[in-house]
Amino acid sequence: MPLYLGFDCSTQSLTAIVVEVEIDGGEPRLVFESALAFDEELPRYGTRHGVLPNVDPTVALSPPAMWAEALEVMVARVAASGLDMRRLAAVSGSAQQHGSVYLNASASARLAALDPGRPIAGQAADLLSRPVSPIWMDSSTSEECAEISAAVGGAGVLAQRTGSRAFERFTGPQIRKLFKREPLIYAATDRVHLVSSFLASLLVGGHAPAEPGDGSGMNLMDLAAQRWWPPAVDATAPGLDAKLPALVPSATVVGSLSLYWQTRFGLPPARVVAWSGDNPCSLIGTGLVAEGRVAISLGTSDTIFGVMAEPRVDPGGTGHVFGAPTGAYMGLTVFKNGSLARERVRDAFGLTWAQFAEALDATPPGNQGRMMLPWFEPEITPLVAAPGVRHYGLDATDGAAHVRAIVEAQQMALALHSRWMGTRIDTIHATGGASANRAILRVMADVFDADVYQFASGNSACLGAALRAYHADALARGRGVEWQAVVRPLAEPLAASRIAPDHRTHALYAELSRTYAAREAEALGLSAASGTIG
Ligand code: XUL
Repeated sequence: MPLYLGFDCSTQSLTAIVVEVEIDGGEPRLVFESALAFDEELPRYGTRHGVLPNVDPTVALSPPAMWAEALEVMVARVAASGLDMRRLAAVSGSAQQHGSVYLNASASARLAALDPGRPIAGQAADLLSRPVSPIWMDSSTSEECAEISAAVGGAGVLAQRTGSRAFERFTGPQIRKLFKREPLIYAATDRVHLVSSFLASLLVGGHAPAEPGDGSGMNLMDLAAQRWWPPAVDATAPGLDAKLPALVPSATVVGSLSLYWQTRFGLPPARVVAWSGDNPCSLIGTGLVAEGRVAISLGTSDTIFGVMAEPRVDPGGTGHVFGAPTGAYMGLTVFKNGSLARERVRDAFGLTWAQFAEALDATPPGNQGRMMLPWFEPEITPLVAAPGVRHYGLDATDGAAHVRAIVEAQQMALALHSRWMGTRIDTIHATGGASANRAILRVMADVFDADVYQFASGNSACLGAALRAYHADALARGRGVEWQAVVRPLAEPLAASRIAPDHRTHALYAELSRTYAAREAEALGLSAASGTIG
């Protein structure tokens, strides 16, 4: 029975999942799952929550060599898991979106000649023209966003073509910043990879292509044609067209595990399927292969997403349309103040996660009008360049009220800023680490007036990567499997986990959401500000 391996290289950790599937008609079964936290297990890189400390709060950089080392540690774990690795048929991966990895001109030759006698981290470092990668949490490129938008004819034109207006964290503006600030490094860069295509390159021993799911997070790809869009490429940096990876459909086999992995870990030359971004992979891992339902991922970023048969770009410029691994599209809205913001509140009051959930249960829905705008860090949705948490009626010593305030704020913001997707939301598939917390999901159900379901595993991005490996391998064998069958039963929500909304509480949240939206607008300077900033 073939095995399919999926990785997820996220902001704070790298995860692996292996599923096994009986060819011709079997249902995938999960047989291995393991996670590695960067800060704890690879402390020599000095990251905090996976990011290098920086004096500038708008800058977020991570070391690609750390991701390479994490990948190797994880492959070693899979190889030592007791599973018969001769059955490994295909591998794919998911990675945090938008991050860019800069490779020098020697990378092609070096990738093809990785030495199985030596660990990968040092060899990966030799591939780089820049030792750090700007990641999705970076918000330092407002100037470059404005320049790129202006050059292509405005934000609306860029959004219509690429699926998103210019966003600070997107790869194009980040590349432009490097070109302007560090022209020598830009000149020494032969290839700019996404985190996803970089890690796939390490596996195949050559430059791996990117695919439309992650390619659409760059402000560089023509969404409909699924090709690089020359006006955006030219507006970003000179000579960039020669430095971008090729673009291939998501289900493409981009190579096989190179001799490095075969010799060092005894793995077979399994097919490597194009890696994608974590949100596109999560779409598969939460079983969303047709329009209708949405998923909410509560991770380092909080995201809400769903399938779109046709790309309906957000005229307000809040959300994104990306390519979906199924070949359709996905709508997505992203919040930066996700789990780290929840953690800030938890830590400020010295709580455990269990106590955090108890605090939610012990406080009334609506929090007696007490409210928070949770902008601990610069926010993506809505755009908040200068962070600052605003409190309304909250007593600084009342931990429980703060817990409810942040959870309600996050859920109301998710609901308000996903309206552009035009989906009537009556069912939500909840995933990500915090989706284990049913007290949070209770607030979600009541704010959205929707049934909320959990999954057996909160790591839908990694599961999605393993299932994408299965889907593409079946296609490559000439025995294509329908997406509905690929996601059944592992990526289906647990029926018994259903949290049904309380319609009376929803009416209360509908009212509160109007207040929340007004306060948000006020704080953004759209009208006079109120509340206390802390
Ligand atoms: C998506 C985004 C985040 C990262 C986090 O646009 O910025 O969800 O992908 O991993």
